[in-house]
This record gives sequence, structure tokens and C-alpha cells, in this order.
Amino acid sequence: KGLKLYDPGYLNTAPVRSTISYIDGDEGILRYRGYPIEELAEKSTFPEVAYLIYAHPMGVLVNALSALSVFHPDANPALRGLDIYNSKQVRDKQIVRIIGKITTIAAAINLRLGGRPPVLPSNNLSYTENFLYMLDSLGNRSYKPNPRLTRALDIIFILHAEHEMNCSTSAVRHLASSGVDVYTAIAGGVGALYGPLHGGANEAVLKMLSEIGSVDNIPEFIEGVKNRKRKLSGFGHRVYKNYDPRAKVLKKLTEEVFSIVGRDPLIEVAVALEKIALSDEYFIKRKLYPNVDFYSGLIYRAMGFPPEFFTILFAIPRMAGYLAHWRESLDDPDTKIMRPQQVYVGEWLRHYKPTKERT
Ligand code: CMC
Repeated sequence: KGLKLYDPGYLNTAPVRSTISYIDGDEGILRYRGYPIEELAEKSTFPEVAYLIYAHPMGVLVNALSALSVFHPDANPALRGLDIYNSKQVRDKQIVRIIGKITTIAAAINLRLGGRPPVLPSNNLSYTENFLYMLDSLGNRSYKPNPRLTRALDIIFILHAEHEMNCSTSAVRHLASSGVDVYTAIAGGVGALYGPLHGGANEAVLKMLSEIGSVDNIPEFIEGVKNRKRKLSGFGHRVYKNYDPRAKVLKKLTEEVFSIVGRDPLIEVAVALEKIALSDEYFIKRKLYPNVDFYSGLIYRAMGFPPEFFTILFAIPRMAGYLAHWRESLDDPDTKIMRPQQVYVGEWLRHYKPTKERT
């Protein structure tokens, strides 16, 4: 402790750990995430490499959804006139299309993360079964996902389907109120969902639990939260000032999933963290309880999903909510372009000064 190595210019020490690129200067080797640069230069494209190096799956999903508006110009009021969505047929077509495509897009994103090609959907399976099939079958048409895991994911999808005017759904309504096409509106919603205070909290919870690591480290972590060094991810809600009903179902569901795939030791950290927080004055006074994101990540991890994919698993079912709000807003004769007002707190009146006269 206290030992300092004098190493000007970091010639002999490494201040970070990284998984992005590897260089062996003596041998003349450069690899991006393990892929030799020569191979990428010959076979890959820059966008693909940029994605390999950086793009978070939620960023990819936002872009894939907005790209759909280019693929389906027939659904674009800017091109066809504002009245196109007056047709129930046109609206329903977009709804079915989006709910149908979202799992195919999400599965393709997950497969690309693992360097695997996309798998075409199967028409003989249920919605959730087909999603797991695309993820895990490696193209083997006779593959059948575990029915209990399928049911567990289906329950998670049900719990995430709709939640009135949350941040992302209100973003969808906001965008849709301008008359923009539905693909652009839901892409905006998914952008809002990505944030760690919203849907991104499920990924943040898993990172937090891994960081805490063991039950013994919880008191110190809680002190950090109380001292406002960080928030307790998966806790608190703008509307629920009691236990989030979805979190209750998910907590029970973790045991069901663990009974199939094995117990994740981080569940002990999660349960103890919840217990300690719920008996602490800080959390009691502020009515902070576990929310939907607190236990879902543990289930996703147990099912083999990487943390970066968790929020996509929130986005898939939330499409149903977004689209219901979109349709409701189109049906509502009182719908107007959303244009919030503000409370102006700036300078009241000032007069222009030429640059030379400014201080
Ligand atoms: N950890 C520690 N303190 C918290 C937390 C938390 N998770 N949440 C709220 N507080 C404190 C906050 O600091 C404030 O204290 P004080 O009054 O002393 O300043 C008080 O509780 C009230 O919080 P707030 O920030 O006014 O509450 P909000 O309604 O604006 O925010 C929230 C709601 C969900 C953004 C917030 O609770 C939070 O950041 N939670 C962690 C992130 C999270 O789990 N998000 C998922 C939400 S549920 C599903 C979803 O929407 O996707």
C-alpha cells in the first residue's frame, strides 16, 4: 500500500483494462475485439467495424426502427398526406408489422453481437417461442425452446407491455403529435427508454449487483447511496410509492427460472440489498421500493442474455403500449401537436450592443 512506481509516459504500466483492441508492437499485430485487422480490411465494412467496436444494441435498435420508415414510405404521412392514418386498415397494418418485426430485429441484433448471422422466424411457433427460437436454434428448424423458459419470458413481456405516460411512451405521443410516421415516433420512444433512469435501469442493476459482489459489501454501498455518490438502480418510481406490483411477480419468477437453469448467486445480494434498503430510514422516508427493473436483469442473465441486451427485452413488449398510445392519440379528436409551455426566468429586456462595446 502506498507504493508508487515511477513510470514517466506509462512506458511500463497499464492504467486501464480494455477489451476493444489488442496491439503487439514487436510482432506487428493489431486486432479489434480479437479480429485481425487484415481480415476486417479485406472482408468487412467501416459501419460494421464501428458497430463491432462500439454500438450499444439499444442504439442499433433505435436506428433499425427509424430505418423502417424508409422501408415503408407508404406509411409516411409526410409523403402521402396527413390523412393516411384515418384508415383503420393502414394503421392496423403498421401495428401488426411492428409487433411482428421487433422480435426478428432484436434477435438479429443479439446474434450479430455474438458474430452470428440472423435466423429467419418460424411461422409454427408462438410469439415468444419464435423469439427464443431465432436466438438459440442456430437455424435448426426442428429446435424447440424450453416451454417453461418460454412461459417465463412471456410473463416478463406481459409485465412490460404498457405503463401509461412513462418517459418513453410520452415521447412517442409527443413525436406522433407532429404527424410523423409511426416508425420514427417509436424510434424516439426507444431512445428515451435507453436511459438508465428508465428502461436502461435493468442493465444498470445487474452492473450494480456485480459491483457489490457479496452481501458483506452492501452496508458500505448503501452508505454511498445515502451520501448521494450514486443511486440505487432498480429502486424508486415517480408513481409507485409502494412495492411495484411488477417487481413482486418478477421476484417470484426468478426462483422459477433458477429452478430450470441454476441459481445465480447474485440473487442473494439482490434480496439482502432489498431487505436492508427497505428497513433503512433514508428509503422509508422517501418511499423508495424495488421497481420492475430490480429483478428482471437476474432473470435475463440466468437465461443467457448479455447485460447490453436487457433493455431491448424491455423494448420488445413495450411496442404494444407505444402502439396503443399512438392509435389512441390518432382516434382522439382533441389531439393537437404537443407544444409545452415554459416558465421564463431569463433577462427581461436587453438591447443589442455592437461587438466592440461589449464587456
Ligand atoms: N436511489 C437513491 N435515492 C433515490 C432513488 C434511488 N434509486 N430514487 C429516488 N431517490 C431519492 C432522490 O434522491 C430524492 O431524494 P431527496 O428528496 O432527498 O432529494 C427522492 O428520493 C425523490 O426522488 P426523485 O428523484 O425526486 O424521484 P423521481 O420521481 O424524479 O425519479 C426515478 C424517479 C425512477 C427516476 C428515480 O427513483 C431513480 O432514479 N431510480 C433509479 C433508476 C431506476 O431504477 N429507474 C427505473 C424506473 S421504473 C421502470 C422504468 O421507468 O423504466
